[in-house]
Amino acid sequence: MKTVTIAGRKLPAIGIGTWHMGDQNRLREQEIAAIRAGVEAGARLIDTAEMYGNGRSEQLVGEAIKPYSREDLFIVDKVLPTNASRQRMERSLDRSLKNVGTDYFDLYLYHWRGMIPLSETVAELERLKQTGKIKAWGVSNFDVADLEELFNVVGGKNCQANEDLYNLGNRGIDYDLISYQVQHNLPLIAYSPVAQGDSLGTNLTSNQVIKEIATNHGVSPYQVLLAWTIRHPQVLAIPQTSNPKHAKENILAGEIKLTSDELAAIDTVFPAPKKKVGLEML
Ligand SMILES: NC(=O)c1ccc[n+]([C@@H]2O[C@H](COP(=O)([O-])OP(=O)(O)OC[C@H]3O[C@@H](n4cnc5c(N)ncnc54)[C@H](OP(=O)(O)O)[C@@H]3O)[C@@H](O)[C@H]2O)c1
Repeated sequence: MKTVTIAGRKLPAIGIGTWHMGDQNRLREQEIAAIRAGVEAGARLIDTAEMYGNGRSEQLVGEAIKPYSREDLFIVDKVLPTNASRQRMERSLDRSLKNVGTDYFDLYLYHWRGMIPLSETVAELERLKQTGKIKAWGVSNFDVADLEELFNVVGGKNCQANEDLYNLGNRGIDYDLISYQVQHNLPLIAYSPVAQGDSLGTNLTSNQVIKEIATNHGVSPYQVLLAWTIRHPQVLAIPQTSNPKHAKENILAGEIKLTSDELAAIDTVFPAPKKKVGLEML
């Protein structure tokens, strides 16, 4: 299984996304089962945020991880831009920790850029790291220029990951961001790696090339999308699913190795960007 090292932890290259989970009571048991199926298939990184259902996703994650040792998991949480200040961040963090039922996060991300100066946000993230409530911090929805600015802020080089939209239908960051992150040894966490269940309008899973590659490997088209997303050494993907069977399938996609011919065939139907594309976000 492919692995990616983030903040010193070697992790299977497919983790678990949880946006919209915990929102509907009737799905609760199934969602908990899906997260557990992912962990039992080998996933270690679970991605949540204070924004997701106003804490409901964090609470669901807390319930789902009860059977496991905390130190085996790598839990990622995110602070909203409005809370990324000296005055508000620790309160947000404490609320998130309580929701998940843990006393630390392995990685705490600045969800997207807002009005608070980066220097203040980074200083507070660094201070919170000293308290032990977060082991490491990172950013999300940052493009090359944002990372350059970040690296010039005091402590900014301590950033341990950037989490951005990345899938076959939204591959603008292939132009420059991925190579920039490789150059700076900064892992990328790829969100919406299966284009939200193929509902972002690009019809990835019904594409003939993707279907043929899936058939050749004896896997599903979704697994091909994931194998493509994590083909770079430092990219980890976090698909979300409420279906335990899909959860297992997704984690096992970390074992699929696409050949250079298959990657070239994919490029013919979903071409790499030839010029800079503004960072896409959801
Ligand atoms: N940092 C950010 O700003 C940001 C933004 C967006 C998302 N995220 C994170 O990234 C995670 C993933 O992104 P996402 O939730 O937007 O979209 P996604 O993971 O690309 O797609 C989720 C959808 O794909 C379907 N799916 C997943 N695996 C499948 C499979 N093997 N077969 C068939 N259908 C499958 C799921 O349906 P089923 O339940 O039926 O399987 C679900 O509806 C989020 O949950 C969140 O943790 C972060």
